[in-house]
Amino acid sequence: MPKKLPFFLIANALLSSALPTWGEELPEGKGKEMVAASCTSCHTFSSRVGAGYTATGWHTVMRMMINHGVPIPRDQLGTMTEYLIKNFPEKLKPAGVVVLTPPSPKSRPYGMAVNSKGAVFFVEFGTNKVGGVDPATLEIREYPLPDPASRPRRIAITSDDIVWYTDFSRGYLGRLDPSTGAVTEWQSPSGPKSEPYGISAIKDIVWYSESGSTPNTVVRFDPGSTKFQSWAIPGGGNIVRNTSVTRDGSFVLANSLVNAVTLVKISK
Ligand code: HEC
Repeated sequence: MPKKLPFFLIANALLSSALPTWGEELPEGKGKEMVAASCTSCHTFSSRVGAGYTATGWHTVMRMMINHGVPIPRDQLGTMTEYLIKNFPEKLKPAGVVVLTPPSPKSRPYGMAVNSKGAVFFVEFGTNKVGGVDPATLEIREYPLPDPASRPRRIAITSDDIVWYTDFSRGYLGRLDPSTGAVTEWQSPSGPKSEPYGISAIKDIVWYSESGSTPNTVVRFDPGSTKFQSWAIPGGGNIVRNTSVTRDGSFVLANSLVNAVTLVKISK
């Protein structure tokens, strides 16, 4: 290919001066000298390696470089490619994952919800605490609940950023004000063994299910009047581990053991 000739010449002319400088920065191994000799003249090697390549990627790069006119002797291509594959593998992209550890050991982070300011709150089912993550510092603050036997399981947050939790072990609905740490609790209508579980806030009314009562219930709690109402779930519900809210404000419950989803249409 006569067209490529000037390129060959330039590349080769630059080789001798480039070798000593860049050869030193390459990791040891069979093929190092060849890469140092062939791959540092047109561009610095380090400026093109980026986050590395897969084996297939390196084969492609070598084909590309040959097409660009890099004079690679046939008997050296394999060694060079192996050297590159071994020493410059594709690095995993830095993942935006941060793992935070609550101060309490074995706290069993369970249900979680995000407040109006984007702060994450979660209940610690392994202890009697609610955790809150400061979005700026990523520090976890723990809010102790007054009864050591409390095991909060799920959580909902109303528009005033009040945190509501279902205390599964004691059969309570709890209210935590994170700005003061103050906690108020109400016994759930079906009593200490009611095992309140999935919970959601709908227009600042708290809705949840009692998974320990037969049949499971839908419970409504009005924070204004602090009055409860409850209804049996047709078919038993058993067990409502998760609840959610539809866009039109209906309450939905996942009845894990009876292969059903309950939709509660709330009258306006
Ligand atoms: C003849 C000059 C020349 C030589 C010598 C050369 N390259 Fe390149 N290299 C180029 C050019 C030109 C590009 C830009 C290619 C493009 O963007 O199409 C490039 C780009 C690259 C890239 C980036 C590829 C991409 O997809 O962005 C890598 C990696 C690379 N070269 C590795 C090497 C290796 C390994 C050698 C030694 C075998 C080598 N180069 C030798 C000219 C050369």
